[in-house]
Amino acid sequence: MISGLHHYALEVPDLGVADDFLRDFGLETSEKDGALLAQCAGRSQEQVRMVEGATKRLHHMSFTLRPGALDTVHEVLERSGVPLIEPPDGADEAGLWLRDPDGTAVQLLDTEPAPARAVGEILVNSGASRQRIGSAMWKQVTDDVHPSRLGHSLLFTPQPAAMTAFYTDLLGLQVSDRIHGDFVIFLNAGPGDHHVFGFISSTHPGFHHSSFEVPSIDAIALSADRMRARGHDAGWGLGRHTIGSNFFHYTRDPWGSWIEWYSDIDQVDECWVAGDWDVPPHLWGAPPPETFLSNLEPRRD
Ligand SMILES: [Fe+2]
Repeated sequence: MISGLHHYALEVPDLGVADDFLRDFGLETSEKDGALLAQCAGRSQEQVRMVEGATKRLHHMSFTLRPGALDTVHEVLERSGVPLIEPPDGADEAGLWLRDPDGTAVQLLDTEPAPARAVGEILVNSGASRQRIGSAMWKQVTDDVHPSRLGHSLLFTPQPAAMTAFYTDLLGLQVSDRIHGDFVIFLNAGPGDHHVFGFISSTHPGFHHSSFEVPSIDAIALSADRMRARGHDAGWGLGRHTIGSNFFHYTRDPWGSWIEWYSDIDQVDECWVAGDWDVPPHLWGAPPPETFLSNLEPRRD
């Protein structure tokens, strides 16, 4: 029933810091009713919402529903005893609002995802492919490096089994793959990106990272260079992930969580079979920094 991730929202102590960081990352920002919104160039869909609060913490997650699914979702929630709630302060009021088992506010929108900005085909001369003949790659590859869409977010949770059951049984996501059982769980929304959402086991709930698609591996590396030049030094990458197979680079945000650029992610189809894997998170590249799985958010009451 969920067709994809619409946006994520954080509470942060200083919206000016958030604004600078998100623009350095490659997003366009605006202000609405006291909240900071960020979106990808050429895509008319909110991707990030920041509201001011005492400390950084996850504020809400927002998903799109498949056309016509709203009534079914409403019935399923009612049958399962999941109450609807009022939108939290700082959120927009559209759609259905509820809380997941960790208490995170969740918005379900009866809208189609906005189309992402059209990006050019990447012609490669790798393997047996000789697609790029008579043109110099280095002259084109810097033309479009900015994110085209929000792809996924991963959250920390102390109860991965309950969270997975909630988002799969009630809201229609499917498990794509796992690492070490419940340690990391990746969820898909049907054919498309290997994961749009997922969980990392932790002592308490929190926001781990969000990830935006860029046109190429070069766009990832060029964007990481730009962030470093602007003083955002802490990161992890360049590498290729195991689960999902995407190229990645993460930069640590001003609050100790992470934001990622990705490209070349696996696409699941109707026949995809979930596995439980005993593998490190990356196929090559430096190992993650020690702080990569630190959950710095305050515990909820
Ligand atoms: Fe990711």
